[in-house]
Amino acid sequence: MQQRITLADGGELSVLVQGAGHPVLFVHGFPLDHTMWRAQMGALADQFQVIAPDLRGFGQSSVTAGTVTMQQHADDLAELLATLGINESVTLCGLSMGGYIAWQFWKRHPERLARLILCDTRAAADSAEAQQTRHTVASRVLAEGSDFLAEAMPAKLFSPYTFTHHPELITATQRIIRTTQPQGIAAAALGMAARVDATDWLGDIDVPTLLIVGQDDQITTVDEMRSLAALIPEASFVAIDDAGHMAPLEAPQPVNAAIEHFLLGTSV
Ligand code: MLT
Repeated sequence: MQQRITLADGGELSVLVQGAGHPVLFVHGFPLDHTMWRAQMGALADQFQVIAPDLRGFGQSSVTAGTVTMQQHADDLAELLATLGINESVTLCGLSMGGYIAWQFWKRHPERLARLILCDTRAAADSAEAQQTRHTVASRVLAEGSDFLAEAMPAKLFSPYTFTHHPELITATQRIIRTTQPQGIAAAALGMAARVDATDWLGDIDVPTLLIVGQDDQITTVDEMRSLAALIPEASFVAIDDAGHMAPLEAPQPVNAAIEHFLLGTSV
C-alpha cells in the first residue's frame, strides 16, 4: 500500500509497504526513487514486510531545498519506521547513495538495525574533485533542470548487457531522473559532497552484512566492494554477472536469490 507520512519538521515521505514478516527497508540511489526496487518488492513481499520510501526530495516525497545530508536521510528513515509503527529492528538494503545513508543509519539508529545489505556503494568520502563535480551538478540542475543528468548517467549506471537486452530499464530510469525535482537532486548532491568517510566504522559493524555488486559496475567497482567486505566482521559478498551499478534492477533474479539466502540464513 502506498502511504504518505508527515515528519516532525513538516516534510512528507511517500512510502510503499507490502507483505508481512521481518521488515526490510529498501533505500534507493541518486537521483532515483523507490521504483528501482520493484523486482525486489514483488519477489520478497510474500515472506517479508517490504518498505520502499521515496527519500526526501525524490519521487512523490516533499522537497527540502539547500543541502540534505546523509544523516538527515537516516533520521527521516528512523522517523518513518516509528510512524509506521514498525518497532522490530529492520534489514536495511541500500544502493549507492542508499548505502551512504545506511552507514549513518547504523551509527545513529543501531537499535533499529538487524542486518545490512549494501548494493553498489562505497564507504569513502568524496575527493575534493568529486565534491567540486557535485557542486557543479547542483548548480547546473537548478539552472537548467535534470535532462542533462538523464542523458549522461545511463552510460555509468548500466552494464553493456542491459544496454543490449533491456533498454526499457534505461528508458524508465531516464524518465525518473527527468521527473525528479531539481531542488531535490541539488540538495542530495550537496549532501553527498558533505558526507564523512565511514571506512573507519566498518570494523565495528556488528550486524550480519551482505554486499552485492554488479560485475560491470564502473562507479563502485567489484574490487572496491570486496575491500569493504574484508573490513566488515560478519560480511558476505556476491558479484552479479551482466549487471552494472544498478544490479538489483538489471539482474533481479540473482540479486533476489542472494538477498533471500542472506535473510533466511542469518538469524538476528
Ligand atoms: C547513486 O547511484 O546513488 C550514485 O551513484 C551515488 C553517487 O553519485 O555517489
